[in-house]
Amino acid sequence: MDPYLLGLRLRGRRVVVVGGGAVATRRIPALLDAGADVLLVSPGVTASLEDLAAADRIRWEERPYQDGDCAGAWLVCACTDRPEVNAAVAAAAEEQRIWCVRADDAEASAAWTPASGRAGEVRVGVLSGDPRHSAAIRDAILTGLRSGQLTARHGRGHRSGVAIIGGGPGDPGLITVRGRQLLAEADVVLTDRLAPRSLLDELSADVEVIDVSKIPYGRAMAQEQINATLIEHAKAGRFVARLKGGDPFVFGRGAEEVLACLRAGIPVTVVPGVTSAVGVPTSAWVPVTHRGVAQDFHVVSVHVPPGDARSTVDWEVLGGGSGTLVLLMAVEQIGPVAAALLRNGRSPNTPVSVIANGTLPTQRTINSTLEQVEGAVRQEGIRPPAIIVVGDVVGVAAEITELMGHVTA
Ligand SMILES: C[S@@+](CC[C@H](N)C(=O)[O-])C[C@H]1O[C@@H](n2cnc3c(N)ncnc32)[C@H](O)[C@@H]1O
Repeated sequence: MDPYLLGLRLRGRRVVVVGGGAVATRRIPALLDAGADVLLVSPGVTASLEDLAAADRIRWEERPYQDGDCAGAWLVCACTDRPEVNAAVAAAAEEQRIWCVRADDAEASAAWTPASGRAGEVRVGVLSGDPRHSAAIRDAILTGLRSGQLTARHGRGHRSGVAIIGGGPGDPGLITVRGRQLLAEADVVLTDRLAPRSLLDELSADVEVIDVSKIPYGRAMAQEQINATLIEHAKAGRFVARLKGGDPFVFGRGAEEVLACLRAGIPVTVVPGVTSAVGVPTSAWVPVTHRGVAQDFHVVSVHVPPGDARSTVDWEVLGGGSGTLVLLMAVEQIGPVAAALLRNGRSPNTPVSVIANGTLPTQRTINSTLEQVEGAVRQEGIRPPAIIVVGDVVGVAAEITELMGHVTA
C-alpha cells in the first residue's frame, strides 16, 4: 500500500522519542528544527543528546519506557535496540491513535520517515521502500537544487531585490550553498574579476551577466555606477545577484552596495563568503594562527602605501608586534611595506609567503623573507591577485608540505 506523504507542523507539539542511541541522535535535531516539544525516554543516551537535555532543548526521562509515556503525544518514535520495547511503544501509540515510527521494523511501522533535506526554502522528502535508495535520490535532488542545476527560477515565489553574494576566493567549489542557490535564481548577475566566474557558465542563457570588474591600476566601473545598476534592475522587478570575490564585507565595498539599495527602498540580502584573507593562506597550507606560534592575525589592505596621507594603518604597531600579517592588494607596494615593518621592529629574517591566484588551478606560492621579498616578487613576476603572509606561521606550512611529501594517498 502506498504511504500518504504529509508535512507535519510540529511547533509546540509533543513528540515522544523512546531510545537514546544513534537513531534518536539523528532524528531529534530535525524534530527540534520543526519546533517539536521533544520528550526523550531512555535509561542512557548519546553525548549529543545529553548535551541537548542539559541545554533544556529536550526533556529527558532517564529510565526505561513505561506504560503511559505516549500520553499527550502527536507523534512517537520507537528507536530502542530492543524489538519488544519498540513493539510495546508502537502498540500503545496505535491504541491512542498516535502516529508511531518504528526504527527497527518498517513493515510493523504505522508511519515512515522519508529521507529528507532542505535546499533554501525547499523541503525534499523521498520514500522509495528502500532507505538507502531514498537517501541517494534525496542527495541527488539536493545537490541539483543547491548547485543550481535543478531550478524553478520562474516558479512560484520568484525573488525580488538584490543579493550581495560572497563567492569565495575563486575556486567555484568554495562558494556557499546559499550563495549558489541565490545565484541560480537570479535574473541579472553583476560580477567581479575575483568572483568564481566559472559559475557564470552554468547560468541559463536568458540571465543577463554584467561584468563590473575593477582591474587594479586599470579600467573600472565606478562604484556609484555599480550601485545605480543594481537599483535599476531591481526596480524593474528583476532579482539581482551581485557576485563578489571572497567575503563581500572584507575590502569589498559590499556594505556600500547594501546601503545604496536600502536607501533606494530595495530589499537586500547578504551572503557571507570565504574571504581570501584566510582561505588563500589555508589553500597554501599556511595557518594564519598556530598554537605556540601566532595568537593573532591582522588583515591589512595595502591599496595605499605606508606613509601615504590616505593610509589609516598603524605600521608602527604592526612592525612592533609578532602576530601574523595578511596583506591584501600588496603586490605593487611590497617594497615600502617591508621597509616599514623592518623599520618598526620586525626581523629581516621573518618568513614571508606570497600566494598568487589562490585556490585556482594557476595558484602559485613563493617563499622568502621580509628583507628579500620585494626582489623575489619582482624576479618571479608575481601579479595580483596575491595574498602576502608575514610571520612565523609560514614555517608551519613548510613543515606540512615536507610531511605531505611522505604521505601517499
Ligand atoms: C578588493 S580585495 C577583495 C577581497 C575580498 N572581498 C575577500 O574577502 O577576499 C582584492 C584582493 O584580495 C586578494 N585576493 C582575492 N582573491 C584572491 C585570490 N584568489 N588569490 C590571492 N589573492 C586574492 C588580493 O590581495 C586582491 O588584491
